Amino acid sequence: MKQRVLFLGPPGAGKGTQAQLLAGSRQLLHLSTGDLLRAEVAAGSALGQEAAAVMARGELVSDALVLAIVRSRLEQQAASGGGGWLLDGFPRNVPQAEALESLLEELGQQIELVVLMELDDAVLLQRLLGRGREDDNQEVIRHRLEVYRDQTAPLIRFYGDRGLLQPVDASGEVESVSQRIDALLG
Ligand code: AP5
Repeated sequence: MKQRVLFLGPPGAGKGTQAQLLAGSRQLLHLSTGDLLRAEVAAGSALGQEAAAVMARGELVSDALVLAIVRSRLEQQAASGGGGWLLDGFPRNVPQAEALESLLEELGQQIELVVLMELDDAVLLQRLLGRGREDDNQEVIRHRLEVYRDQTAPLIRFYGDRGLLQPVDASGEVESVSQRIDALLG
């Protein structure tokens, strides 16, 4: 069974929804940089104050900040005996992916699978407008999609070249998508 997995895909594809389900059923650590950043914003920490405006615009928070968050969580897990993890919303660009490779090398771990969740823009938009998070309005969603195409989509090639990428149809009911992903993890 694959236990070290990345979820890649545009905003609204269902990365968070699916990662949460799988983490629960397979006892894996779910690490969502978006959720962790929103928690910092809600707590009003220095880190949250730095991130809030950037997130509201739908741009990417600095690599250094996000990497520090991921590093501390993965080191903590490794120190307490290891185990599997699902990374959702990270890495978001090639420098983050390269930094993750170095970090995992330090920890003696490897990515086993990258799930690419694919969905039409019209459906993404409908899902996000239906949710109504602070950054879920037409203008910011459009910008998040541009940022995805410019900065995150190059990771499709990055992980494709490493033989790790598996595309998944992210349309349909949550349960159907879940079954497709479950089959890939083995
Ligand atoms: P982040 O929280 O990662 O947002 P995102 O990538 O835009 O992803 P979403 O949470 O919008 O979508 P999702 O694919 O997880 O879908 P979900 O399951 O939620 O990032 C937010 C911001 O934080 C970024 O813009 C950036 O500023 C910053 N950030 C985060 N990580 C960063 C990083 N690594 N580097 C720099 N900055 C970073 O589902 C969406 C909706 O659809 C939900 O309402 C859900 O209930 C519904 N839904 C899900 N599946 C289905 C289905 N099958 N059918 C119907 N509805 C569904």
